[in-house]
Amino acid sequence: MTFDRRLRIAPSILSADFADFGREIRATEDQGADWVHVDVMDGHFVPNLTFGPPAVKAFRRHVTTFMDVHLMIAPVDPFIEAYAEAGADMITVHVEAGPHIHRTLQAIRATGRMAGVALNPGTPAEAVEHVLDLCDMVLVMSVNPGFGGQKFIHSQIAKIERLRAMIGDRPIHIQVDGGVDPDTAPLVVRAGADVLVAGSAVFRGGSADTPEVYGRNMRAIREAVAAA
Ligand code: DX5
Ligand code: ZN
Repeated sequence: MTFDRRLRIAPSILSADFADFGREIRATEDQGADWVHVDVMDGHFVPNLTFGPPAVKAFRRHVTTFMDVHLMIAPVDPFIEAYAEAGADMITVHVEAGPHIHRTLQAIRATGRMAGVALNPGTPAEAVEHVLDLCDMVLVMSVNPGFGGQKFIHSQIAKIERLRAMIGDRPIHIQVDGGVDPDTAPLVVRAGADVLVAGSAVFRGGSADTPEVYGRNMRAIREAVAAA
């Protein structure tokens, strides 16, 4: 069975209404989201603070597609079990979050969840070369992590190309996260990405009361990729 590299859009709920996550999650999925991207931040590894395991467990009740949990926390090992228990389908950890990424990825796999590894803009693709066979996904940060609505960092396109070459035909997704919109999406897909995280580009101008705006924003990304 060939690996499914079809384009997937994963809205980041960091850009959603923080007083209405259940409706926001259901609205994006109703409007065509493939995954739900949950940005976990600890105020230490990144200068922002978001969701603990109880919040993620609550989100899980509303997610019917795939809950893609992005852990921007350090140390990360003590929390893997808790986010797996909370219902994450994919747990992505930063290679920069600790000294033992090989063991961390083994720990995620031991929970039965899919394992992702994330690279900050300053980290070379080679940093994950020796753990690719423990990964279901590599996340390339195209902004410095911590906030939505930042400007896409174009130097990351060469890293995506490098990763695509390193991965070859192994069943490993490449996810790009940060500043993805109809202008940048074609660039990263052409470079080899198949999962696009988008926060501000999906949620901007809409609300859970006007979910058709989310659908329009996601279609604009898909159409831009298809037209490129
Ligand atoms: C940033 C997060 C991203 C962010 C994306 O640290 O990991 O997922 O929410 O937001 P946009 O798409 O607005 O850059
Ligand atoms: Zn993210």
